[in-house]
Amino acid sequence: MTVPQITLNDGVRIPQLGYGVWRVKDDQVVAPVLKALEVGYRHIDTAAVYGNEAGVGKAVAESGVPRDEIFITSKLWNDKHHKDDARQAIEETLTKLGVDHLDLYLIHWPAVVKHGDAYIEAWDSLQQFKAEGLTRSIGVSNFNPEHLDRLDGTTPSLNQIEVHPSFNRADLRAEHERRGIATEAWSPLGNQHAPSDLDLPEVVQVAEQTGLSPAQVIIRWHLQIGNIVIPKSVTPSRIEENFAVFGTELSTEQVDLLSGLDKGNRQGGNPLVDH
Ligand SMILES: NC(=O)c1ccc[n+]([C@@H]2O[C@H](COP(=O)([O-])OP(=O)(O)OC[C@H]3O[C@@H](n4cnc5c(N)ncnc54)[C@H](OP(=O)(O)O)[C@@H]3O)[C@@H](O)[C@H]2O)c1
Repeated sequence: MTVPQITLNDGVRIPQLGYGVWRVKDDQVVAPVLKALEVGYRHIDTAAVYGNEAGVGKAVAESGVPRDEIFITSKLWNDKHHKDDARQAIEETLTKLGVDHLDLYLIHWPAVVKHGDAYIEAWDSLQQFKAEGLTRSIGVSNFNPEHLDRLDGTTPSLNQIEVHPSFNRADLRAEHERRGIATEAWSPLGNQHAPSDLDLPEVVQVAEQTGLSPAQVIIRWHLQIGNIVIPKSVTPSRIEENFAVFGTELSTEQVDLLSGLDKGNRQGGNPLVDH
């Protein structure tokens, strides 16, 4: 199965469907990542703060899939925004992953609450890392337009933000479009806690209409509105299910139905309040 690719503003191509590994312990991440690679995922989303980069790297090495066929993203944590800390952080990330470069490196949060403007300095470091070939592309995560406005130099290739049907971020996605920044959706299933988007009656209704599962319906919605999407599962059957979303399409009416479910239902952190 070929996953569509999105061309980022720096020309780097990213598989539109990836595999996230938040909240999977280092010693438990190898098997699910191996399963994901066996199923066909070629894009893995990790972060220094997840504490599982070594396990991800082990799975990548054991998989037999050539490194250059796997798109690997990691993220700079909030207390590493200053220049020397950022340098040490990417070196540790590369060492743990066992690779000589990343495909994408993100500033995980602007972290203005605890660290003020330090994210602006971090962006200078990321541009330097890209210039040195330590990462092919650079972007941000959990940035609002006011944070994007403060960055000098290169425009981030993408902004990884919480997006799911009940929190669809239409305004921020439109702002990304205007700026040439791709949208990558975290917690794409809206399933961090109840009420889960997987249980929304409209999602269940479209699942019944299409023969897809509720998770597949939501993943198709992301793909069809242009998001890059990185669902996480440690359950082998769900890893397969979340990948089996190609060769079928939601109708325009079904996409619009899901796009109309926004309730401002943020499930994770708010960059203006947390961190
Ligand atoms: N940049 C950021 O600040 C940030 C924040 C959060 C997440 N992320 C990234 O985004 C990725 C995805 O977000 P997420 O992990 O919060 O949430 P998610 O992918 O939306 O949902 C994961 C949850 O849904 C369950 N699930 C997965 N597939 C399912 C299916 N087909 N049917 C029913 N349940 C299913 C998983 O259970 P099991 O695992 O038990 O199967 C898990 O409990 C993360 O892993 C991480 O890489 C980034």
